[in-house]
Amino acid sequence: MIDSTGNTVSTGLNVNSIRADFPILQRKIHGQNLVYLDNAATTQKPNQVIKSLTDYYEQTNANVHRGVHTLSIEATDGYELARSKVADFINAPRSEEIIWTRNTSESLNLVAATWAENNVVAGDNIVITAMEHHSNIVPWQQLAFKKGAELRYFAHNSDGIIDLEHAMTVIDERTKILSVTHMSNVLGTVNPISELAGRAHDVGAVIMVDAAQSVPHMPVDVQDLDADFLAFSAHKMLGPTGIGVLWGKVSLLEDMPPYMFGGDMILEVTYEDANWNDLPYKFEAGTPNIADAFGTGAAVDYLSRLGMKNVWRHEQDLTAYAMERILSLDTVKILGPKDPSMRGGVISFIHDSIHPHDLGTALDQQGIAIRTGHHCAMPLVRSYDVVAAARASFYIYNTKSEVDALVNGISETEGYFNR
Ligand code: ALA
Repeated sequence: MIDSTGNTVSTGLNVNSIRADFPILQRKIHGQNLVYLDNAATTQKPNQVIKSLTDYYEQTNANVHRGVHTLSIEATDGYELARSKVADFINAPRSEEIIWTRNTSESLNLVAATWAENNVVAGDNIVITAMEHHSNIVPWQQLAFKKGAELRYFAHNSDGIIDLEHAMTVIDERTKILSVTHMSNVLGTVNPISELAGRAHDVGAVIMVDAAQSVPHMPVDVQDLDADFLAFSAHKMLGPTGIGVLWGKVSLLEDMPPYMFGGDMILEVTYEDANWNDLPYKFEAGTPNIADAFGTGAAVDYLSRLGMKNVWRHEQDLTAYAMERILSLDTVKILGPKDPSMRGGVISFIHDSIHPHDLGTALDQQGIAIRTGHHCAMPLVRSYDVVAAARASFYIYNTKSEVDALVNGISETEGYFNR
């Protein structure tokens, strides 16, 4: 059902009231209402998250795990409470399995530099999909070069659907780690993680999930997925930039060496040697990003209050509507699955005569923010014989009227270029 202002209310989200929480949505861009459709790059922040940051700095600021004074105890409690909120959000069995990092990229690099560094030897292979973000390609390429291991890719069809049969043959007895995006940031494809995890575990490998585009948008349960490691960033789910999460099974994390050395990650240091603190602190050297952990906790509270099933339903509804409207233009080709139920709220598209950068610039003049370029997935974008694509990506505050604004904006841009 669509209400009088074009908001979807049947999906369980009251978009009008959500929008009121986001001050930036009041902004005018070039004199027009902002239509923010670049959520896969980063999402906007509600008052509740912004306030958690100012409250932290105004009322609590102190270092964690170091002091006996009130502020330090309160900062420590809040920092650890945020960790346990994140653990509950992804159904992690234990809160010490949540490692704070800077972002998804750092979480992926951490596993490559520790678990994989210790376990991958010459002749082994590492398996990824052909639709990965650079963050889930380059660390594995570097590791493979260093170790004399092979980096293997498994295929997807032209609609961006993974070829599971091919995956099952590419993953073999020499596979040590499979690292897969849960949802492609270009194609929107949602990948069958638990099937892939089953195959990985059958051959004695582990599976790492790049969940940067899934945790913010759908219910994610690490136990249901049967994952071993999972990574995501707070800024793509209403939280602050500069903080991310690595979740890993405690049995794997226990055996891994530290990623960085310094304060807080040690148990004891002598002039000759040192040994390591317990999880999760072994992986959190130095003063951590305390304020942004508070902000991440507030973002998790906000999303939990909405309900991730409702978030997902809203985005699927919007995506189906947007695909139909965009395709009605005839001049535009959409990358990724044709069936909206097989994808998330990311629509990359190519116009048959307007370069994505020109389109993005023209839409910006109309207040509409989309992303253009290779989307940090050069090999994938190039596989479609283009060097760039335009991308609209949705979140909880987007409406069907904004999709209409995008489609009208593309039509107006066509008119301008064809004059
Ligand atoms: N990975 C982010 C994106 O897809 C930045 O835009």
